[in-house]
Amino acid sequence: MGDDLLSVRGLNVRLSETGRMLLREVSLDVTAGSVVAVVGGSGSGKTTLGNALLGILPPAMELAGGEILFQGRDIGKLKSDELRRIRGRHIGMVFQEPVSALDPVYKIGFQIIETLQAHGLCAGESARLRARELLQLCGVPDPQRIAESYPFELSGGLRQRAMIALAIAAGPSLVIADEPTSSLDVVLQARVIELFRDLRKRLGLSLLLITHDLGVARALADELVVMCQGEIVERGPAVEIFSRPVHPYTRELVAAEDL
Ligand SMILES: Nc1ncnc2c1ncn2[C@@H]1O[C@H](COP(=O)(O)OP(=O)(O)OP(=O)(O)O)[C@@H](O)[C@H]1O
Ligand SMILES: [Mg+2]
Repeated sequence: MGDDLLSVRGLNVRLSETGRMLLREVSLDVTAGSVVAVVGGSGSGKTTLGNALLGILPPAMELAGGEILFQGRDIGKLKSDELRRIRGRHIGMVFQEPVSALDPVYKIGFQIIETLQAHGLCAGESARLRARELLQLCGVPDPQRIAESYPFELSGGLRQRAMIALAIAAGPSLVIADEPTSSLDVVLQARVIELFRDLRKRLGLSLLLITHDLGVARALADELVVMCQGEIVERGPAVEIFSRPVHPYTRELVAAEDL
């Protein structure tokens, strides 16, 4: 398995009721320290893939074969409480809408502290300090004040940073980010891209970036995986795919980006 952090083999996901396949034989690798972007049009199955990897598929969907090897362990077969321990600690999650990761009723700082404590990393004053450090690392100005704020009190850009701080709090080796910049305006998008670059450099973070935005993929990814109707139609180094897309669907995507 080489230095693969995440290695997905022949993953299938279907709708339980109708049996309709949403993902067909999806295989991909994320090596330590690299950024892999999953791109594709709306409904191509990107979010379903991310959710399947994180073990958070909606009840209507089920895994129907394949392996999800994380650090050599098949996490697709773990019980939900075992998986929950890996999620958050070893795999961080970032979503389009911070509301799905941040709890609206708790202050930002408290949520980070709770994560640190839940994973037995630190507690008390040192957890409080670490929470501020994490916010600072994610470019949050005045971390002390933000730690004392509720999610609804923050602007969209700050909430996104707070969610990223929470996602990396326990020191995960992999972050799965589903449309992490899609709810932001272009200036904030650029800042979040910069933040991911910085975290990668400083923490050696690996990223599975799920996005319909080829510009974001271009800015961050080493490798590209192109999805169409639940299947991977093309993959390879991002520079190569952007300069010489082979599959007609990829050509269309790349051409659309230049419009
Ligand atoms: N809860 C659900 N129940 C049934 N079908 C669903 C559900 N969520 C998504 N689907 C279907 O699964 C397929 C893949 O959807 P998915 O959300 O993974 O696409 P996506 O690539 O993330 O799209 P987008 O770019 O719009 O986020 C689509 O055909 C969609 O209609
Ligand atoms: Mg999606």
